[in-house]
Amino acid sequence: MGYKLLKTENKARRGEFSTVHGTVQTPCFMNVATVAAIKGGLSTVDLKEVGAQVMLCNTYHLHVRPGDDKVKTLGGLHKFTNWDRPILTDSGGFQVFSLAKLNKITEDGVTFNSHVDGRKIFMGPEESMQIQSNLGSTIAMAFDECVANPAKYEYSKEACARTLRWLERCKVEMDRLNSLPDTINKNQMLFGINQGCTFDDLRVEHMKEIAKMDLDGYAIGGLAVGEPKEDMYRIISAVEPFAPVDKPRYLMGVGTPGNILEGVSRGVDLFDCVMPARNARHGQLFTKKGIININNAKYILDDHPIDEECQCPTCRNYSRAYVRHLLKAGEMLGMRLAVMHNLYFYNNLMTEIRENIDNNSFEDYKNEYVDRLDTRI
Ligand code: GUN
Ligand code: ZN
Repeated sequence: MGYKLLKTENKARRGEFSTVHGTVQTPCFMNVATVAAIKGGLSTVDLKEVGAQVMLCNTYHLHVRPGDDKVKTLGGLHKFTNWDRPILTDSGGFQVFSLAKLNKITEDGVTFNSHVDGRKIFMGPEESMQIQSNLGSTIAMAFDECVANPAKYEYSKEACARTLRWLERCKVEMDRLNSLPDTINKNQMLFGINQGCTFDDLRVEHMKEIAKMDLDGYAIGGLAVGEPKEDMYRIISAVEPFAPVDKPRYLMGVGTPGNILEGVSRGVDLFDCVMPARNARHGQLFTKKGIININNAKYILDDHPIDEECQCPTCRNYSRAYVRHLLKAGEMLGMRLAVMHNLYFYNNLMTEIRENIDNNSFEDYKNEYVDRLDTRI
C-alpha cells in the first residue's frame, strides 16, 4: 500500500496509489458525492461509467444526516453506497467553516449549529477521526482550520499552529481507531492538510512540519477560496519542494480544467471539485473546444453530440438539442445527462494527462489546452 512514483516530466508526476480498495492511477480527479450521492442523480453504477476512480464524501454532512453511527451499523460507506473503489472523506473542517453557523473555535475543536436542524454540534480532531472511522472511508482527511481569505498574518499563523497540533491529535486517534477490533477499515489512511493562506513563509514552514510526520498523503488546503489564481499557483510551487516525493499530493477543491493542468505541472497528483457537476446543472458543458452553454438558442436544432470527441454515455446517445430541451423543461434526465458528460470529461482529462506524462508530451498537451478548456465559446 502507498504511493509509487512511476515517471516524471519536469514537475508533473505519473504515479500509482494503492489502497485496500484498489489502486488509483495518478494524476486523478476525485468525484464529489458530498452526502454519498453525486448531485444530478448519478448512481455509483453511473460513476463507473464516467470513469471515476475515487469518490469523495463529507464527514460533516454524513454525521448530521443520516449519522455515521447508522452508516457503521450498515457496514460502512462502501457497502451503504455499493461503491467498491477508494473513498476519500473530507474531515468536516472546511464545511464547518463554510457552511454551518459557526459558534466558536477553541483548542479542543469547533462548536457549531447544524445546517439541517440547527442543533448544536461539537467537532474536534478526535470526533472527526471517529466519524471517518465509522464511515470506513479509504482515506480520512485531518481536521483543519481553513481561514477565510483575505486573512491577517498573525491570525493565519495561529491557525496554522493550531492545525498542526490538531494533526498530531488526529494521528494518535486514527492509530488508536485502526487498532480496535470492530473498526470497519483498519487500514484507513490519513492525509495532512497544509494551510497558511497566501503567506509563503507560513505555508512552507507548515509543510515542513507536517512532512516530518509519517502521513499517507499531503493536501494543500485553503486555496481556491477567492484569491487570484496566480497566488494559488505561486503557493503550490512554494510548498511542493517540501512535500515528500513518495506520498501523494492533493490540491483540495480545485478546480477548472486549466487549474488542474497547472496543478499537475507543479507536481500535484489528486484533485476534487464540485464544478463539473454544478456547472452541468446550469447548462455549462465542457468540451475540447471550450465551455458551451447548452441553454443558448443556437443549440435548439443542433443534432450533434455535446462534444464530437467525447465517448461519454450522453454523447454516444443524445444530441445537444435533446439535452437542451430536457434542461429547459426541468426534466431530471437533463441534469443527469449533463452531469454524466461533465464528469466523464474531467475523468477523461485525467486519463489524457496520464498518457501524456507517460509519453513525455504533457508540456505540449498543457500548452494546447490550458486556456482553451476554460474559455466560454
Ligand atoms: N476543501 C477545500 N479546501 C479545504 C481545506 O482547506 N480544508 C478541508 N478540510 N477541506 C477543503
Ligand atoms: Zn460527452
